Amino acid sequence: MFLTEVPLVYWLALGALALAWRSIYNGTKLTATFIGSLSQSKKHGSIDRYNDLHSSDSSKERNTKYEDLVSSYYDLATEFYEWGWGSSFHFADKRKGENFAAAIMRHEHFLAGRLNVAKGAKLLDCGCGIGGPARNIARFTGASVTAVTINQFQVNRGNALCKQENIADQVVLEQANFMKLPYPDNSFDAVYAIEATCHAPDRNGVYSEIYRVLKPGGNFACYEWCLTDKYDANNAFHRKVKKDIEVGDGLPDMCHTSVCTKALQKSGFKVLEARDYAEEAHAEAWFTPLTPSWNPFVWPRFQFNPIMFRMMPIILSAFEWMRLVPSGTSKTQVMLQAGGVGCQQGGLTGIFTPMWLMVGEKPRK
Ligand SMILES: C[S@@+](CC[C@H](N)C(=O)[O-])C[C@H]1O[C@@H](n2cnc3c(N)ncnc32)[C@H](O)[C@@H]1O
Repeated sequence: MFLTEVPLVYWLALGALALAWRSIYNGTKLTATFIGSLSQSKKHGSIDRYNDLHSSDSSKERNTKYEDLVSSYYDLATEFYEWGWGSSFHFADKRKGENFAAAIMRHEHFLAGRLNVAKGAKLLDCGCGIGGPARNIARFTGASVTAVTINQFQVNRGNALCKQENIADQVVLEQANFMKLPYPDNSFDAVYAIEATCHAPDRNGVYSEIYRVLKPGGNFACYEWCLTDKYDANNAFHRKVKKDIEVGDGLPDMCHTSVCTKALQKSGFKVLEARDYAEEAHAEAWFTPLTPSWNPFVWPRFQFNPIMFRMMPIILSAFEWMRLVPSGTSKTQVMLQAGGVGCQQGGLTGIFTPMWLMVGEKPRK
């Protein structure tokens, strides 16, 4: 029989199988890496200490202990983030025709476009995760990127990925606190921060440090996590959503968009842009990946359906019992899932945005 005589339906079935096989293969590979990494890590035992930091209602106490709070949060969360989301740890809405990866990349390129830099420029990424955005922005702009995170585990993982992707000569991750950056004044052509400065105990502090290391005439562009005008502090549900986001995402205290814009101005920047990028026309809202789905190929949405929501902690507890993953893994997953629900509800009600876009210029004087 000639190949042309094989009915079209068989070709379609074969194609569907090949496509499904690719997702199953990729998903299994990622899960194996995830479980392998968890099984070697002893970090998840610190979940109780992390929860203690959040159990007090005092945001003042969390603000003073922010270094411990944030670094222990990312000790717990980093492997889960990479497994469920990818190597860029931020949200993005989808425009028409985009898949998840394309939307994430476009969101980063859009911010990079605000930096106004040429090939060979020196950029600083403040709060870089495992460097997904830094690698994409370095490729897009031709600039070299120094990327800082407070968490040493992320530095090690990020630099390993830079090596793997042959970009280690252009992107370097370093362990540093963006509240006291270890760089001389006027060292960078531009600075950016993606969903990271929300971890700062005080916006004035972080923006002033960024201002100090930025060369005169250089731009700083960021996406901030903020409460919007719709947030009502007298509404108990709004307060619960705020608290869920803070606990589930390692934040000391969340503030209103106006607090960030004022702090940017107060730090010396000329504010070029300050607006909610989530309000732009989109095909799919940024929080859609956090809404529940029954489709096992739609990840991470599948884990938010009512059955998986209850099953995941049980599965992970069983893994803990079999010593496949360290103790505390299940509690960590519960904490992260609650944060995901908080973000989704914050997005749906419009009281929260993870993309308050701000661009500031350091005047030449
Ligand atoms: C939500 S992640 C975003 C990471 C990255 N921008 C991305 O989009 O993939 C927040 C990052 O900020 C970093 N971070 C938080 N507080 C920090 C601090 N005080 N100094 C340096 N990095 C910090 C965390 O370690 C983490 O890497």
